[in-house]
Amino acid sequence: RITDVRLREVLDSRGNPTVEADVLTESGGFGRAAAPSGASTGEYEAIERPAGEAIAAARETAVPRLVGEAFAGNQREVDGILRAADGTDDFSEIGANSAVAISMAAAKAGADVLGAPLFQHLGGTFRGDNFPVPLGNVVGGGEHAADATDIQEFLSAPVGAPSVAEAVFANAAVHAEVSELLHERDVAAGKGDEGAWAPSIDDAEAFDIVDEAVSTIEDEVGFEIRFGLDVAAAEMYDDDAGVYEYSNTTRDTDEQIAYVADLVEEYDLVYVEDPLDENDYEGFAKLTEKVGDRTLVCGDDLFVTNTERLAEGIEQGAANSILIKPNQIGTLTDAFDAIELARANGYESIVSHRSGETEDTTIAHLAVATDVPFIKTGAVGGERTAKLNELIRIADDAT
Ligand code: PGA
Ligand code: ZN
Repeated sequence: RITDVRLREVLDSRGNPTVEADVLTESGGFGRAAAPSGASTGEYEAIERPAGEAIAAARETAVPRLVGEAFAGNQREVDGILRAADGTDDFSEIGANSAVAISMAAAKAGADVLGAPLFQHLGGTFRGDNFPVPLGNVVGGGEHAADATDIQEFLSAPVGAPSVAEAVFANAAVHAEVSELLHERDVAAGKGDEGAWAPSIDDAEAFDIVDEAVSTIEDEVGFEIRFGLDVAAAEMYDDDAGVYEYSNTTRDTDEQIAYVADLVEEYDLVYVEDPLDENDYEGFAKLTEKVGDRTLVCGDDLFVTNTERLAEGIEQGAANSILIKPNQIGTLTDAFDAIELARANGYESIVSHRSGETEDTTIAHLAVATDVPFIKTGAVGGERTAKLNELIRIADDAT
């Protein structure tokens, strides 16, 4: 049984306060986890409250219901209590940040009680033994960096890597190669929130550079590397005008669909996230109809890890994959349910970090536990390498 839940404010990678939770149990189990935070958040995400308020609210309503009552190892019970204590659909009372920190900390305490690694506790004996391919953000802009690309993320995808470690190192090599190519072109670049290069170039030039960097490293390592995108199109969409606003042009919905379909074709993209606005199931469906047999069309802001929104998307054929961010929905149980619903309907799941992160490694374990094909957690930078290095350790332990 849970004997204490301690909550505190700690720093995230952007230097903002976020919620960290410690869960302690009667038998000496301990789990600690911290909430990440988005910048290009979806309109339909669960609500993140200011850390101090989220902590105060959780202490008042959720903690007393957990302590002495719930078993840390029973994730559905813990998460059910969090939902009941909150009493809203979107965790606007205790904050999705308090909820997800407690949910993940309880899972870790549950694993600790069992003496099992977290991925084993979450995935069980009968989980598959595949490892996710890391999608590494190598160039980006959008809401993650000022004066950089319109497209939020260019993602290296080492699909042919024989091991997780080789995939992780390949993404770092692509990231370094991009830097070389920027140098050659005399383009200065800092890094965005997720550690990707954030040069002041247009998207066309970014495609050139990433395409070349991926080919160069592919030749070097000798296995297939492709790339993908998070367009984060909701951030570009002007609702009133009904157009996507790029730095140098605008595109209406049909033009946006044609543009993205051409990019998939020209660059053999393996992955396209949020190519259209978060309310445009229909546009998503048209694009999926065109390119869904060749690439993963993924809903992030569209689905927000929410089974109701995913069910609507499945109904309309809006995509063929879903991004899974536990803090978008508030608990690990909800994230698992989204992955299950996706799987039952032939949709792939991609587990993901947020642009604001901590050293927390829960998502690495979640990705392995649920046997998903991809994990999106950056390429470099301490809060990103925390997850990538954890994946390498898990693979090392498990094989
Ligand atoms: P966010 O960005 O964490 O700022 O929302 C990540 C993403 O859009 O996938
Ligand atoms: Zn996204």
